[in-house]
Amino acid sequence: MTPPNLAMNAVSTVRDLRAQVAEWKAEGLRVALVPTMGALHEGHLALVQQVMDVADRVVVSIFVNPAQFAAGEDFDSYPRTLEDDAAKLASTGPHLIYAPTARDMYPDGFVTEVRLGGPAEGLESEARPHFFHGVALVVSKLFNQVRPDVAVFGEKDYQQLMVIRRLVIDLDLDVEILAGETAREADGLARSSRNAYLNAEDRRRAGALNVILKDFGADLRSGMPASEAEASAVARARDAFDGVDYVTVRHAETLAKLGDGPVSDPARVLAAVKVGTTRLIDNIAV
Ligand code: PAF
Repeated sequence: MTPPNLAMNAVSTVRDLRAQVAEWKAEGLRVALVPTMGALHEGHLALVQQVMDVADRVVVSIFVNPAQFAAGEDFDSYPRTLEDDAAKLASTGPHLIYAPTARDMYPDGFVTEVRLGGPAEGLESEARPHFFHGVALVVSKLFNQVRPDVAVFGEKDYQQLMVIRRLVIDLDLDVEILAGETAREADGLARSSRNAYLNAEDRRRAGALNVILKDFGADLRSGMPASEAEASAVARARDAFDGVDYVTVRHAETLAKLGDGPVSDPARVLAAVKVGTTRLIDNIAV
């Protein structure tokens, strides 16, 4: 079945998807997957462009995954803009949209779960304990459905990227994972589909998050003890925003906590804050 009125090729069933990918593979073409939940912005389009350089054919999946939302989160109000998304993608040039329904993805009787540890622990999982289990489940299914040679995930969701890298290693999944640089607005705010929830005043305040993270990173690079640099960044975030889930420094790959002294391991500073009712996340390399 083809979703109607879209500006480019699209399929919604695993059967149609597999038929198309099988044709490409039979021709010896390299296939990339860009998994998304739609409401596409320049960050997503940059991910598509990135994989167009390393693959012959690109599939963009668009699926608002119920398994990664808890009751009371924004699953119902999450923007669903399939026609606009297809129009944006048509100008960027991927070859297929895969837009399954929730019923196709999770038919009656579906019970399987993916259990995670390591990089999935802490940070986002404190506020959203269900989140990475739902992400890992849908990404595992997408990998099995598309069978891509390569897939790209944005660094904006850095913990997600580390969880997927671990999943691919642990389950011997035959797919190369690329990291996509975070796309930012002029004031440094990381582009996100959820930025659409910010009113004008909250949008103005949101720009401070990237500034606080950059200063946090600079403090660490200057040799300031991690605990002192973190305390200063947390205090600034508390002043600037309406809630702070975390502002912290972690090992760049395992996301394990670091000691209190000067940072010597490859590290990443990460934050999640509330601006008005919108939760923003961001991170940068140290
Ligand atoms: O980052 C996202 O948009 C989602 O978590 C993903 C990877 C598409 C899985 O639903």
